[in-house]
Amino acid sequence: MEDCRRAAELESRIFGGDAWTEEDFRESLCCDYAVYVVARDGDEDRLTACAGVRNMCGDGDITNVMVDEAYRRRGIAEHLLRYLMKEGEAIGVRNFTLEVRRSNIPAIRLYEKLGFVSEGVRPGFYDAPKEDAFIFWKRETDRV
Ligand SMILES: CC(C)(COP(=O)(O)OP(=O)(O)OC[C@H]1O[C@@H](n2cnc3c(N)ncnc32)[C@H](O)[C@@H]1OP(=O)(O)O)[C@@H](O)C(=O)NCCC(=O)NCCS
Repeated sequence: MEDCRRAAELESRIFGGDAWTEEDFRESLCCDYAVYVVARDGDEDRLTACAGVRNMCGDGDITNVMVDEAYRRRGIAEHLLRYLMKEGEAIGVRNFTLEVRRSNIPAIRLYEKLGFVSEGVRPGFYDAPKEDAFIFWKRETDRV
């Protein structure tokens, strides 16, 4: 709960108009079917990354994947998502899914590295700018 304000600030810096507010994060944390994880820079006590998952009957919808620009390409997102998926499994998630902008190559490469597979496209899913979303899944049956 104490990270909600800084998570919202990070969202705003990264996603601008589409950003979740502090209230959105607080509401999500009240659900027992959601898990959120954050990374901090211990030296600066600064929130550097965040990701969440919501369990819908065994399907985990991953949201709010973001890393502060100054901390990218250090393996933080990969580490955070692996940890998030373990925590998700602990609350009953068997299959993980997420949407990503068609042009978001860093995120697409990240999800592919983690074993996610694109199973479809939602045309015009995103606004400002309008863009298609790839729908990625990492299914229980794909895991060893
Ligand atoms: C996508 C994002 C979360 C990646 O965070 P990160 O901490 O820099 O990623 P990592 O360092 O953990 O990288 C893990 C893997 O992701 C891929 N990757 C990450 N950034 C990449 C880039 N700029 N170009 C290509 N591949 C990239 C690589 O496969 C990388 O593995 P490698 O280092 O062995 O090559 C970050 O760029 C970000 O916050 N972007 C803006 C918000 C966003 O788009 N979120 C996703 C919404 S769906």
